[in-house]
Amino acid sequence: MNLPDKVKIVEVGPRDGLQNESRLVPVEIRVELIGRLAASGLKVIEAGSFVSPKWVPQMASSAEVFAALDKRESVSYPMLVPNMRGLESALEAGVKEIAVFAAASESFSQKNINCSIEQSIERYRQVIGEALNQRLRVRGYVSCVLGCPYEGDIDPVAVADVAAGLFELGCYEISLGDTIGTGTPLKTQKMILETAARVPVSCLAAHFHDTYGQALANLLAALQMGVAVIDSSVAGLGGCPYAKGATGNVASEDVIYMLNGMGIETGVNLSQLVEAGRFISDFLQRPNGSRVARAMLS
Ligand code: HMG
Ligand code: MG
Repeated sequence: MNLPDKVKIVEVGPRDGLQNESRLVPVEIRVELIGRLAASGLKVIEAGSFVSPKWVPQMASSAEVFAALDKRESVSYPMLVPNMRGLESALEAGVKEIAVFAAASESFSQKNINCSIEQSIERYRQVIGEALNQRLRVRGYVSCVLGCPYEGDIDPVAVADVAAGLFELGCYEISLGDTIGTGTPLKTQKMILETAARVPVSCLAAHFHDTYGQALANLLAALQMGVAVIDSSVAGLGGCPYAKGATGNVASEDVIYMLNGMGIETGVNLSQLVEAGRFISDFLQRPNGSRVARAMLS
C-alpha cells in the first residue's frame, strides 16, 4: 500500500474547536491548552483567528492569547485571517503564519465571509501578497470540499479551482475542509485526484469534520492518495458557526492512535495529548469527543 512514512498534524482545536463552543473560554485557559498541546509534540497549533468579533465572539481576544503564549521556536502558531483588517491585527501581534479561508460553495462563502468565491479570491490576492511581503507564511483553506450545508453535493472541479487559485496566490499548503463531515472514502479520493492535478499532493492537507463518523475512513483514503498533512482537533472539539450541523473535527487522539498503529511517525506523545484533551473537556464540562481518549482514560 502506498502510504507516507511521516504525517504532519495541524492541531486546530484552539481555533476550530473553541470557535464553536457556546461557552466563551477565557484567555488563560486557551493559553494553557495551547501550551499542553505543544508539550505533547505538536508542531503546528492554530491558536485563534482575527475575524470580526460580531461574527465569531469566541475568537475575540486572540491577540491576547497569542501575546501570552510561551512560544516554542520549533512550533508554528498560525492565526486565521479573512481580510486586510485581520492581516493588520496579525502583523501587530507579531504572528509569523496566517491562514486564509475560502470555499468551494457560493452559498457557504456568502454565509461565512459575506462575499462570493471570486470576491474572496480577489480579497486574498491583496492579503496574501502583503503577508508574503512581510515574510509571513500563508496557509489556505477550502471549505465544503465534500458537501455544503446549503447546496449539497459539490463538484470536485470547483474544489480544484479554488485550491489552485489560493495556491497560485502563494499559499504554501491547501487544507481541504469537509466542513460538515458528509464525505465518504471514494468521494474523498475523487476530490483529491481532481485537486492533486492542479496542486501538488505534497501541498495538500485533509481537514475532516466527523459529523457522520466518516473522518478516519476518509483520512485513510486520503493517506492512500499521498496526502501527508492532517488537521485534527484535540478531544474532537469543533465545528463552524456558519455551517449548521457541523460537529467537531476528527479527534487528534484518534488520528494519532490510528497512525501509530500503522507505523506512521507523527512526533506526538499520545498520553500527553490525551491529558490535554482531558483538561479542556473538564473545563468545558462536556464529554471527551475522542473515542481513544475515552478508552485510555476509563
Ligand atoms: P462583513 O460584515 O462583510 O465585513 O464581514 P465589514 O468589513 O463590513 O465589517 C463588519 C464589522 O466587522 C465592522 O465593525 C468591521 O470593523 C469589523 P463595525 O464597523 O460594524 O463595528 N471587522 C473586523 N473586526 C475584527 N477583525 C477583522 C474584521 N473585519 C471586519 N478582521 C468578515 C466580513 C469577513 C469580517 C466576516 O464575515 C467574518 O469575520 N467572518 C469570519 C467567519 C468565521 O470566522 N468563520 C469560521 C472560520 S472558517 C471555518 O471554520 C472553516 C475551516 O475550519 C475549514 C472547514 O472546516 O471547512 C477553516
Ligand atoms: Mg473546520
